[in-house]
Amino acid sequence: MNPSPFLPGTEPALYDTAALQALDSAHYLHPFTDFKSLSATGSRFIVRGEGIYIWDSNGNKIIDGMSGLWNVNLGYRRVELADAAYRQMLELPFYNSFFQTSNIPAAKLAASIAGVAPDHMRRVFYCNSGSEANDTIVRMVRRYWDLKNQPQRKTIISRHNAYHGSTVAGASLSGMSGMHAQGDLPIPGIVHIGQPYHFENGAGMTPEAFGLHAAGWLEEKILELGPEKVAAFIGEPVQGAGGVIIPPSTYWPEIQRICDHYGILLISDEVICGFGRLGSWFGCQHFGTRPDLIAFAKGVTSGYFPLGGVIIGDRVADVLIESGGEFNHGFTYSGHPVGCALALENIRILQEEGVVDQVRTETAPHLARQFHKLADHPIVAITEALGMVAGLVLAPSPQTRFDPADEVGMICRRHCFENGVIMRAVGDRMIIAPPLVISPQQIDEMIALIRRCLDLTHVELRARGLI
Ligand SMILES: Cc1ncc(COP(=O)(O)O)c(C=O)c1O
Repeated sequence: MNPSPFLPGTEPALYDTAALQALDSAHYLHPFTDFKSLSATGSRFIVRGEGIYIWDSNGNKIIDGMSGLWNVNLGYRRVELADAAYRQMLELPFYNSFFQTSNIPAAKLAASIAGVAPDHMRRVFYCNSGSEANDTIVRMVRRYWDLKNQPQRKTIISRHNAYHGSTVAGASLSGMSGMHAQGDLPIPGIVHIGQPYHFENGAGMTPEAFGLHAAGWLEEKILELGPEKVAAFIGEPVQGAGGVIIPPSTYWPEIQRICDHYGILLISDEVICGFGRLGSWFGCQHFGTRPDLIAFAKGVTSGYFPLGGVIIGDRVADVLIESGGEFNHGFTYSGHPVGCALALENIRILQEEGVVDQVRTETAPHLARQFHKLADHPIVAITEALGMVAGLVLAPSPQTRFDPADEVGMICRRHCFENGVIMRAVGDRMIIAPPLVISPQQIDEMIALIRRCLDLTHVELRARGLI
């Protein structure tokens, strides 16, 4: 018999954390987790959210500097989103789109997404997550080239340190060595080139020169493989899980030129950047590329419901549609009416409240100004910010780096958690992606907390003799 997780007769905000932790470690295997070490420490339970704040089961209030997992873009407790889901659940909780049937929210949402996507992208294929979106893209790209009578064009080029999901194809497209080491990945037909990380790989080059240089790795790979064998290139406009790697301004235009030159498809994985995160509806619009396929998920529902999909440009859609023949792919929950109704409401709010414009013109510039002030901290080597993402590198000095084995990012992350702000650690990079609705005052509050946690990290690193 499991112990009850609730203390009898107490306020709903008070929980028996130890009992919850026991329940959790007895039964729940978490994603991307060392099961053994988590069961030794116990999980932290998040029990409530409102706006940019979340509360844990011990009553601590925390600024969610990561918008959940880059997705709670409108913040927590938006009643309109919950209402939209509730109303749709009563009206029609589910029907499939397989056998020449459809549902109203799915059709309306596809039109709504087409309305904010680049002009040449007018069709939407639904699934439930970013990983499924990228799996769908792999199948769609191969189908496209088969229909074009070029079945030898199979290879998709991705990048090291990219993240495109955790299904077999998603993990293969991802460029994470830890993921590839488990399960003999990547699958055949997926190869990787270097990432446009100027701080790490661009020594001696200006960011602009490095951007062209890094894009050149794509051309080198295409020529090495044989252009007639290359199907597509995939990239996140800004690499998220890889540590908020913001490419130099020259990078994406040169990637577009190379894709055009060799006739290969360009895939923009907008699972993080889509729906306003960079201050544009899609990241490709910020960087000026013209993708053939866009993967989306996360922010389409502000994370209130699992929904993902692919936006398909005319070049691919025309072939898929005009050729006829069934595309043998889809999911039970493709076009789920509840998720689609909720996403429609999410997009309506983004539009009517002018959230994307507000990010671009007001809050993102404020975030950048305030975040860059952290560059004067003794353990910060660089700061970078774009839209509602930002990252800094922890280092003993601008010229030296910490030993990865010392896991300084995890030390800093712990101080953040314990002091009321969520930052994510990716090696020695500390990153944030706050809700798009964060106000300038709340940005100041968040930055002040981050500075305090950097101070605490500094003290601990000194005490451990790491600086
Ligand atoms: C760029 C990108 N693509 C794909 C995914 C996978 O999405 P999901 O976790 O919904 O499968 C993620 C998740 O973080 C992501 O950041």
